[in-house]
Amino acid sequence: MLVLGIESTAHTFGAAVLNLKGEILSDVRDVFTTVEGGMIPKLVARHHEQIADTVIKKALADAKANHIDLVVYSRGPGMSPCLRIGLAKAKEYAQAFKCDIIGAHHPMAHLTSGLLFTAAQDPVMLYLSGANTQIIALEAGKYRVFGETEDVGLGNALDKFARALGLGFPGGPKIEQLALQGKWTELPYTVKGMDVAFSGIITRVTQLANKGVSKEDLCYSLQEVFFSMITEVTERAMAHLRKKEVLLIGGVAANKRLCAMLEIMCKARGAKFFAVPMQYAGDNAAMIAWQGLLEYHAGRRETTLDIYPFERCDDIDVIWETAKAPLSK
Ligand code: ATP
Ligand code: FE2
Repeated sequence: MLVLGIESTAHTFGAAVLNLKGEILSDVRDVFTTVEGGMIPKLVARHHEQIADTVIKKALADAKANHIDLVVYSRGPGMSPCLRIGLAKAKEYAQAFKCDIIGAHHPMAHLTSGLLFTAAQDPVMLYLSGANTQIIALEAGKYRVFGETEDVGLGNALDKFARALGLGFPGGPKIEQLALQGKWTELPYTVKGMDVAFSGIITRVTQLANKGVSKEDLCYSLQEVFFSMITEVTERAMAHLRKKEVLLIGGVAANKRLCAMLEIMCKARGAKFFAVPMQYAGDNAAMIAWQGLLEYHAGRRETTLDIYPFERCDDIDVIWETAKAPLSK
């Protein structure tokens, strides 16, 4: 059985072909970029529309796939005009291959592909991307959110400060570099139960930057505070849920200092730390294909082909038995 996944929620338009063993036969991506103005939904959707066929045809050719048994599209959350392009293309290709079509929830795909790509079995999952900051675990049939940001996502918070310093986008890697030369300067720390908040701290570092505190010291201190907050709430979730594994997913997983802090915490608790391979940390269509395949294999069929720009992962019933490959047939 061959599955074609299509990703279009935000900056990335991707197509990938996957088999029942979870093997990625092809993975093609084209990312919208701009020098100024950020991601304007209409412009990103235009980009996706222009390159969609090229990307999908390359994914099919790379996989040497002359038939497809299931098409999976990313149904949300994301920017509506972009989601609509993904859905339209999925319909077109499902019709051409005369096969079924199913929608997959984008963050859920990040979670289950994290399980596919690592040896983690039953982890507390840390989903740290640009827009998302959530501490999630599978409990009583759902991926439940135990903690999250009360304002912006961790990656976006780092990007915001980087923009204030004139470092460009994405800011996370540049802050990580500057932090290597920095030393500690006092900053606020905002953990509220299992939740975190970043905006007030960003306001404070920006004030300190305007008062002349060095970029290096601010980047170092910002990382120490943000990542300590994340590590604290992750540890609390592990203690509460009695889980012995952590799985880090999302683009911020690239940060070495964050991984080191989480590893130290896990070691101290006799727990294991996993991070999704960098190549699949960001948005990609292989994870969409995998999520769709899991649900299709468990018997779900699509009744309404639609987009869902605001759906959360804890809205979804986990009907699949495992997120590990291979699936039986
Ligand atoms: P989603 O739609 O799942 O929220 P996204 O597109 O917002 O995804 P990702 O592509 O997963 O986000 O991650 C991008 C974020 O990761 C950016 O905010 C970027 O600054 C951050 N990032 C990338 N590399 C690093 C790094 N080395 N250290 C810290 N942050 C990083
Ligand atoms: Fe994503």
